[in-house]
Amino acid sequence: TWSAVPAGPPDPILGITEAFKADTDSRKINLGVGAYRDENGKPYVLNAVKKAEEIITAAKLDKEYLPITGLAGFTKNAAKLAYGADSPPLNQNAIAVTQSISGTGALRIGGAFLARHYPNPKIIYLPTPTWGNHIPLFKDSGLEVRNYRYFDRKTVGLDFDGLKEDLKNAPEGAIVLLHACAHNPTGVDPTQAQWAEISDLVAEKRLFPFFDMAYQGFASGDTARDAYAVRHFVSQGHQVALCQSFAKNMGLYGERVGAFSLTTKDEEERKRVDSQLKIIVRPMYSNPPLHGAHIANTILSNTELYQEWEGEVKGMANRIISMRERLYELLTNGYQTPGEWGHIKSQIGMFSFTGLKTEQCKALAEKAHIYMTMDGRISMAGLNGSNVEYFAQGVDAAVRG
Ligand code: LMR
Repeated sequence: TWSAVPAGPPDPILGITEAFKADTDSRKINLGVGAYRDENGKPYVLNAVKKAEEIITAAKLDKEYLPITGLAGFTKNAAKLAYGADSPPLNQNAIAVTQSISGTGALRIGGAFLARHYPNPKIIYLPTPTWGNHIPLFKDSGLEVRNYRYFDRKTVGLDFDGLKEDLKNAPEGAIVLLHACAHNPTGVDPTQAQWAEISDLVAEKRLFPFFDMAYQGFASGDTARDAYAVRHFVSQGHQVALCQSFAKNMGLYGERVGAFSLTTKDEEERKRVDSQLKIIVRPMYSNPPLHGAHIANTILSNTELYQEWEGEVKGMANRIISMRERLYELLTNGYQTPGEWGHIKSQIGMFSFTGLKTEQCKALAEKAHIYMTMDGRISMAGLNGSNVEYFAQGVDAAVRG
């Protein structure tokens, strides 16, 4: 039956973890997937999460199905975290939210909703580069995928002129995907002034802003600051779509906790949109999982745990920043590796887009047991005091060829 099914390639990100696991060298380092590691290179379960789980266990909750759009307390609090407690659409009950299978699930629900109901061209513009999964995800959702310029390899920064030109040339009413903060894979974000210009341009061309916010808190260590772009667009009168993930900022990776939301005109419109979100979710997976949503909701609704969580997000962001500084020092002053490495420090969030070429990335895996994605992206969180020197040495050797 399946004789004509061709073998597919491994996933460009998750396939790296498979290769890493198969490597038996004790010096091996996995900088592929964006998953936080502590100073000892170990996965980190946040204290706020552990305490929330104790509260949940003590409450002896049942295991009944959640509603189709998920745990009501969780979706309300997730929207509050993203849009801000004083957000007008939030307070007017004009935000349709559904719980999702983390960020990917949110993107997929959003893609499906737009493919079915968006009244304008069903074309989505993605930045170049973008998270690899965005491309198949939106194609499989039934949208036409196009690109806008984002990253300038020469300046190792934002190609703001290219971005504006491409959005200006987009058909009126097209959808534009924006990474709300901590752009994946480049670690390069627009400034607040540039966000204001993008917002104006989006209004002028009547584009539809679709935000992916997978790293709220990871860019600056401050969840409100990282929500700036989303809140600014809403304050300018845009209706937005928003995908949230609690994988990174609460370390709830495998629990698959996220949310998809759409701001609407008013409560009546919100109710209609809500009903259609249910119609999309029900034949996909009926209703979302319970446990992770309870964890996130317990943290978001308990002042003490919330504060502890905010401190831990800051702690993770700061450890990453200290690794950026250490790596920069080692490459510039330590090994005096040819090239300019300032971007390691200026980029933000979980990733650094090193500028290493595919051949150099391959050499690092083969010769030094260091794994990263072939576009030269490294997860900074995989570095720590014990392996950063070995990594810098490997990069130095790869650059010198
Ligand atoms: C990443 O970019 O590494 C993360 O978003 C994890 C993933 O699912 O790819």
